[in-house]
Amino acid sequence: MSGTDRAAVVAGVGAWVPPAVVTNEALAERLDTSDEWIRSRTGIRRRHVIAPGGATSDLAVEAGRRALESAGADDADVVVVATSTPDRPCPATAPEVASRLGLTGVAAFDVAAVCTGFVYALGVAGGMIASGFARTALVIGADTFSTILDPLDRTTRAIFGDGAGAVFLRAGRPTEPGALMGLRLGSDGTRSELIEVKAGGSRQRSTGLPARDRDTYFRMEGRPVFAHAVRRMATSVRATAAEVGWAPADIHRVVLHQANARILAAVAEQIDVPAECFPSNIDRVGNTVAASVPLVLADACVSGELSPGQRIVLGGFGGGLTWGSVALVWPDVTAIRSDAAPVSPSPTDY
Ligand code: ACO
Repeated sequence: MSGTDRAAVVAGVGAWVPPAVVTNEALAERLDTSDEWIRSRTGIRRRHVIAPGGATSDLAVEAGRRALESAGADDADVVVVATSTPDRPCPATAPEVASRLGLTGVAAFDVAAVCTGFVYALGVAGGMIASGFARTALVIGADTFSTILDPLDRTTRAIFGDGAGAVFLRAGRPTEPGALMGLRLGSDGTRSELIEVKAGGSRQRSTGLPARDRDTYFRMEGRPVFAHAVRRMATSVRATAAEVGWAPADIHRVVLHQANARILAAVAEQIDVPAECFPSNIDRVGNTVAASVPLVLADACVSGELSPGQRIVLGGFGGGLTWGSVALVWPDVTAIRSDAAPVSPSPTDY
């Protein structure tokens, strides 16, 4: 996105989580786990889950509407939804989201890069703006992993939550606050088995055999994923910062995918940026997959942890394996982050 006189500029931020809150204590009533284990190993205290009958598009619409309002915009040339839990395998979720936002007729498509999805989507939409194809884009990260978790898997059920976050991009100059700079995206498909849902795609369906129940659930090998997440995010953030000419001491905030509080601390140490410079909301929302980066961005904006003029790097890591990062000087935007009042779901609903 560099090297031209046109860049994608962040002009609005919004996020939303569904009202139903599942605490660690509630999980421990149904699974062999404890609040102490979950808090000490992950930093998570609670997570939000969608109501029965809800879907990813419902969350994406809420976040998208808030990002449009934050930008003072009522249209967008492109709508991109980053998700690994689309409403259906086919068609993509984005066209329906666009229509429900009153944007029928615009380009709309999904991007799937699991927890790196939002950073990938920023790259794609930002490139469309920088190339002159689009003037504006609504980039949404939304996931509902509660719908694909194994009800008996205490590890994944402790970690993941549902949510959505969105950023509105407009065309601007590469030198102005909010311009996306130094984008890095990467992947390693040789380790795809570390984070996967085995069934539901062409490989399982072409066998003509029904999927086994456990193959329809999300699974993750936590230990190796932890090590990859730290190494890949640290390397990517460092490279992005170097590309835009920032030393570690120049970086005010590192806004990372919220996978585990211990991962944030380890990346901070590796890149030599103080842990206090890493905004985090993982205690309240858990790992919300593609929603994670825009959700923590919105929360940090509202809490005042992010302020105009700060040099920030966004970074993600997820299934694929995939990773990515991008730098920007934080612009003068007001994030819209209003949720419905929290409720406790019935134990049969999560
Ligand atoms: N409660 C109690 N015990 C548990 C729980 C739980 N919720 N979960 C696991 N355990 C147990 C395990 O069964 C194991 O027991 P054992 O020793 O008797 O076999 C023990 O705790 C240790 O298990 P580990 O998996 O080694 O625990 P670890 O400390 O590694 O923490 C975790 C697991 C939290 C998953 C961690 O590995 C992690 O955060 N990994 C990275 C996740 C990540 O970065 N994801 C990003 C990408 S996700 C995406 O793209 C969708």
